[in-house]
Amino acid sequence: MNVVLFGPPGAGKGTQAKELAKQYQIPHISTGDILRGNVRDGTELGKEAKGYMDKGELVPDEVLIGIIKNRLAESDCKPGYLLDGYPRTTPQADALSAILEEIGMPLEVVLNIDVADEELVTRLCGRYVCTCGESYHMKFNPPEKENVCDACGAELYQRDDDKEDVIRQRLDSYKEKTQPLINYYKEKGLLVDIEGTGAIDRVFSDICKILDQYK
Ligand code: AP5
Ligand code: ZN
Repeated sequence: MNVVLFGPPGAGKGTQAKELAKQYQIPHISTGDILRGNVRDGTELGKEAKGYMDKGELVPDEVLIGIIKNRLAESDCKPGYLLDGYPRTTPQADALSAILEEIGMPLEVVLNIDVADEELVTRLCGRYVCTCGESYHMKFNPPEKENVCDACGAELYQRDDDKEDVIRQRLDSYKEKTQPLINYYKEKGLLVDIEGTGAIDRVFSDICKILDQYK
């Protein structure tokens, strides 16, 4: 199953992708997670990316295209892939098509998770994350024990880019550079809209109804 999970910052891509990866046994490939891993490890790539990420700007295309090409070549992608946060620009989408053609794993569906702007800001302002990859929301998806990860027991923290001014910049970057891909994939007949407002479980079951067709 070859899937792109598309949508603005805070739409719930990461939240859904974690469960979908378990449900369909395909790897969840989040470029945001890969970049943050590099920032944490202090790699050259991480040092370059951090400046853009802290400002809410996109990291340059050539960096992302290299990352995704290497990641898709790994053996766990043989049964398929669930891309989250990539592509975000037309050059990234064109590069993806070329990479996928080369490895013979064409995209089957692009799920566009739709959520209104003000809801996105509320979600991101209240998000708490864990180094293990889990993500919570103070109000909408709280951990059992305040500020402690249910999965691993570590202390939760807020992402550096989840400050309101940076969130607004991320939304602007999305509108300017990423949103045009909705038409790009519509024209290719790959786009399916998902109503992203409402309970996390309901969004999940709506997505599964679509993805079950590609099993
Ligand atoms: P990235 O990590 O990809 O961030 P993003 O796209 O801004 O997405 P988020 O992780 O913020 O949101 P999400 O949709 O995953 O929402 P989540 O599930 O957490 O990218 C970060 C940065 O890296 C970029 O700004 C850029 O600099 C760089 N980058 C990454 N990829 C790049 C690329 N391809 N090109 C260039 N640069 C790139 O949910 C959000 C919150 O809402 C959580 O608290 C969650 O609990 C809650 N929530 C989820 N669903 C619901 C629901 N149904 N109801 C209520 N609350 C909900
Ligand atoms: Zn954890």
